[in-house]
Amino acid sequence: MSALVTLNNGLKMPLIGLGCWKIPNKVCAEQVYDAIKLGYRLFDGATDYGNEAEVGQGIKKAIDDKIVTRADLFIVSKLWNSFHRPEHVRLNVKKNLEDLGLDYVDLYYIHFPIAFKFVPIEERYPPSFYSGIKEEAQGIIATERVGLADTYHAMEALVDEGLIKSIGISNYNGGLVQDVLNYCRIKPVALQIEHHPYLTQAHLVEYCKLNQIQIVAYSSFGPQSYVELKSEVAIETVPLFEHPTVKKIASAHGSDISTSQVLLRWATQQGVAIIPKSSKKERLLANLKVDETLTLTDDELKEINNLNKNLRFNQPWEWMNMKFPIFD
Ligand SMILES: NC(=O)c1ccc[n+]([C@@H]2O[C@H](COP(=O)([O-])OP(=O)(O)OC[C@H]3O[C@@H](n4cnc5c(N)ncnc54)[C@H](OP(=O)(O)O)[C@@H]3O)[C@@H](O)[C@H]2O)c1
Repeated sequence: MSALVTLNNGLKMPLIGLGCWKIPNKVCAEQVYDAIKLGYRLFDGATDYGNEAEVGQGIKKAIDDKIVTRADLFIVSKLWNSFHRPEHVRLNVKKNLEDLGLDYVDLYYIHFPIAFKFVPIEERYPPSFYSGIKEEAQGIIATERVGLADTYHAMEALVDEGLIKSIGISNYNGGLVQDVLNYCRIKPVALQIEHHPYLTQAHLVEYCKLNQIQIVAYSSFGPQSYVELKSEVAIETVPLFEHPTVKKIASAHGSDISTSQVLLRWATQQGVAIIPKSSKKERLLANLKVDETLTLTDDELKEINNLNKNLRFNQPWEWMNMKFPIFD
């Protein structure tokens, strides 16, 4: 098992989990089951990933086989953009729970700070970047007239009801984090952001630390995850696995240390939680055990910090032609 961090609501969360985005449906249940057998306890899922039923099957098998109990696990899901209206927030989480076969999730994020037009579950689920208008071919998606505070308060009601244990926010910048802190009754426990040596977001990380909000890194391997989405920026960027600095640091720690381990350890050594995704069983253990395998020196951490170029890959505008400047 990975180390645990204590969240601002007292719950303990594994510092390392398995990211479930793009784990193909046909291997997902087995991958989750194998991951639990290897010691993974946190699974980072979402409405949008379209594989929560399979994640749930893997969890069920592990519980049935008495490898873990539900209480040993830390299950994460995310509210999709088209469920931001308060009355739809509960609808979304009930669907997540039904698919996962669970009574509650440990952490439920607002996936993006943008509200798409509601799409009924019967019409399309997950709705992805679909809002049912013909202009979508030009990247225009219909929006819902709802403020983030209203969505957040509906998430707080889910905590009261016991359907979710904690609230998370994702893809929020510093201004939006500060805004939540102004209106929340229940503080967010975590902020999930794209975070890797090309996009270190040092100020945001520090600001959240000061406010006891745990940073959870996604896409720790930088461009890797976006190459398969045919993102031009990702394809044109030197892969972090191949970056000379990362390679040099890996080899300084011995021939059995990989660049992937350097990238993950760089995050966890700063107290940033990680959720590397892999569909391959053989990669699960190396990713999970990174803290026991490797310790970077302060100079090495600084050298990696210096690779920052504020380069973001999770830009749906770029790989989906979606006309929403989420981060600009
Ligand atoms: N909140 C958000 O908006 C958001 C956005 C993106 C991601 N996320 C979450 O964060 C998780 C992680 O991010 P991500 O999936 O974008 O990317 P990632 O974990 O940075 O990278 C995944 C890629 O790296 C490969 N990989 C995994 N372990 C490896 C290893 N040890 N050596 C070499 N290659 C390895 C995987 O290939 P194989 O599968 O073939 O092993 C896959 O191509 C997601 O799964 C999701 O849960 C959240």
